[in-house]
Amino acid sequence: MNVSDFDMITRILRERSGLVLSKDKAYLIESRLNPVARKWQFKNFDDLASALRLGNDEKLLRDVTEAMTTNESFFFRDSKPFDQFKAIVLPHLINARASKRSFRIWSAACSSGQEPYSLAMILKEAGASLSGWRIEIVATDLSTEILQKAQEGAYSQFEVQRGLPIEYLVKYFKQEGERWMIDPSIRQMVTYKTFNLLEDPMALGTFDVVFLRNVLIYFDQPTKSQVLAGIARNMPADGFLYLGGAETVLGISDSFQLIPGQRGIYGLIPSGAAAAKSAVG
Ligand SMILES: C[S@@+](CC[C@H](N)C(=O)[O-])C[C@H]1O[C@@H](n2cnc3c(N)ncnc32)[C@H](O)[C@@H]1O
Repeated sequence: MNVSDFDMITRILRERSGLVLSKDKAYLIESRLNPVARKWQFKNFDDLASALRLGNDEKLLRDVTEAMTTNESFFFRDSKPFDQFKAIVLPHLINARASKRSFRIWSAACSSGQEPYSLAMILKEAGASLSGWRIEIVATDLSTEILQKAQEGAYSQFEVQRGLPIEYLVKYFKQEGERWMIDPSIRQMVTYKTFNLLEDPMALGTFDVVFLRNVLIYFDQPTKSQVLAGIARNMPADGFLYLGGAETVLGISDSFQLIPGQRGIYGLIPSGAAAAKSAVG
């Protein structure tokens, strides 16, 4: 790939998804876009690049952007965030939302669904303590293709062996041929929507808990700040934000701070929340 194609493609990716790729990742562009070139019946990568340069085929631009996303995910990823959700966040919400008996969770880059389904299984297990509550789990991603997989709730043997406790596999999945289908009672707890994190999340409403895990790592600093500012504006003062193990708010957001003693969970800093809200009037 020549320098001008690299520059053109990285500009498209940055503008459309926030993904930032350095020159040493040029090989990734060719390996991920060659299948797109074949699907679109271009003779080779250069022809795909020429079509992209015209910039007038929205569907092609979308396919290219989606093909460059990394969709790696697994059930109860890193386990600790989900333990903390069970032990700290859920008891807090049950107490603090007792009068309205409802709360909303956002899995903000949900990929193939393992994250929102892990949360749904925890809520299902909470049973009687949430009986009569209205709980929404909204799961969004940029990629419509990965959302279709999430919505289907069908996983391979390999996928159900990564992080999913065996008792949950037995209780909430049914084997159909080579696939494991998630139980409809869990599947129906999650609402999927296409959403680009570069957009303002206001239209999605406010969320008491946001899982924004393993996606900020792909963005540059200003994009990370913009995404976190949007989330801060759409969160009640006692909301919770989860980031991935390699992600932090340090130097990126003055709205969030670590919840003391809880690595990976953030809450709003009171003055930060006020500042974020006043920034939008
Ligand atoms: C590595 S997965 C993380 C999945 C899950 N949160 C986890 O931690 O296992 C990253 C996801 O972010 C999505 N993504 C990347 N850029 C995005 C954007 N601008 N808006 C929304 N989703 C995006 C990708 O499509 C991908 O599914």
